[in-house]
Amino acid sequence: MESNSDLHCIMTAIIKNTTHQKYFCSKLILVKFLMMLLFVTFVFKANAQNPAPWKAPTFADTLQNPLVNDNPQNGKKVFMSICFVCHGEKGKGDGIASAQLKPKPANFTSDFIQNQSDGALFWKLSTGRGAMVSFQKTLTPIQRWQMVNYIRFLGKK
Ligand code: HEC
Repeated sequence: MESNSDLHCIMTAIIKNTTHQKYFCSKLILVKFLMMLLFVTFVFKANAQNPAPWKAPTFADTLQNPLVNDNPQNGKKVFMSICFVCHGEKGKGDGIASAQLKPKPANFTSDFIQNQSDGALFWKLSTGRGAMVSFQKTLTPIQRWQMVNYIRFLGKK
């Protein structure tokens, strides 16, 4: 928005000192303000519905999975009692509670998920974001690593 013309408008209003000019000038500024507000609201709403892809901090990549050789099926019970509601039984992000959610629960079979390190996935499910709550307190570290292994299992084609 151009503030020069607003300034010019105010100056003219002061110099001319006519009610008409003052009225016109305040209207102009008000309209500009409302347009700006509308624009900001629009951008904000668009962002809330489509936030940037979730990125774990780089240190998360250095977290070592202590259960690399564990049977991924050890995570099945927890997954099928909590995660499937949103992420779906096959991890495709199509669970029964997924319809109302924006952004959608992650699809664990996608490259976007499978290309991430174990540490990054562990960090995300421990930290949470929005509808994806933090599992730091509800699941033990062992259970959370088992979730990572189960996500890997779901991603196998
Ligand atoms: C209430 C619904 C809900 C439940 C229950 C849930 N999630 Fe999520 N999950 C989400 C949503 C929504 C996202 C996407 C969040 C975002 O991008 O802001 C997500 C994202 C994730 C991600 C990160 C994906 C990425 O962007 O890289 C992981 C990992 C994950 N969930 C694991 C789990 C695990 C494991 C469980 C069970 C212990 C679980 N979630 C339970 C809704 C849920």
